[in-house]
Amino acid sequence: MLIETFVLTPFQQNTRVVSCEKTRKAICIDPGEKSDELVEFINGNDLDLQAIILTHGHLDHIGGTGDLSRSFPDAEILLHEEEMYLYDALPQQPLFMGIQPDQMRAMGMEYEPAPRPTRFLTHGEVLRVGNLKFEVRHCPGHTRGHIMLVAKDERAVFTGDCLFSGTIGRTDLPGGDFDQLIDSIRANVLSLGDDFTVYCGHGPETTIGRERTSNPFLAGTHEKRSGNPF
Ligand SMILES: [Fe+2]
Repeated sequence: MLIETFVLTPFQQNTRVVSCEKTRKAICIDPGEKSDELVEFINGNDLDLQAIILTHGHLDHIGGTGDLSRSFPDAEILLHEEEMYLYDALPQQPLFMGIQPDQMRAMGMEYEPAPRPTRFLTHGEVLRVGNLKFEVRHCPGHTRGHIMLVAKDERAVFTGDCLFSGTIGRTDLPGGDFDQLIDSIRANVLSLGDDFTVYCGHGPETTIGRERTSNPFLAGTHEKRSGNPF
């Protein structure tokens, strides 16, 4: 498994291209914004982009979906159905966050409506990308329809904005629920092995073992409150 990370948007979101070394088949997880570098990487490495997979519908994770889909029209667009309340609201999302229309242009946040998803992801389904397998896990709490991808054979989990190194996702935006997020992480992440690498939606990678023992939200040493600004 090859992983290339592009840090995009003013929110420093980790857009990733994950590919099978042998077959060159690939997915893009969370294209945060239009990026020529991203398109050139996929073309330049002769990758066959099978799907654009969205962990959730926040603008910094889906803002580049339309552009990437135009460059790779055969790639599926996949997300969880319960995330459509955010996905369909992409053009309005900056307003929800208090960003005024005149600021949107300056910040590159004037969005066209996101393209129709090809189909919806369901908890437990397994996506095959060449020789790679990704299990979909529905993990509500940061948003209603957030999903994670677990690559068991590769000992890797892509956690989007559920879990970060040393913290967890914020739960004060529409659809957020702190208790639900903790439950989601315990059921879907901590149930995996400590040696799994955690690829987060923002910030550095970590491991499940490190988060299990030192993440204050998971070790039960932190007060109940929102995690961080993402
Ligand atoms: Fe988010």
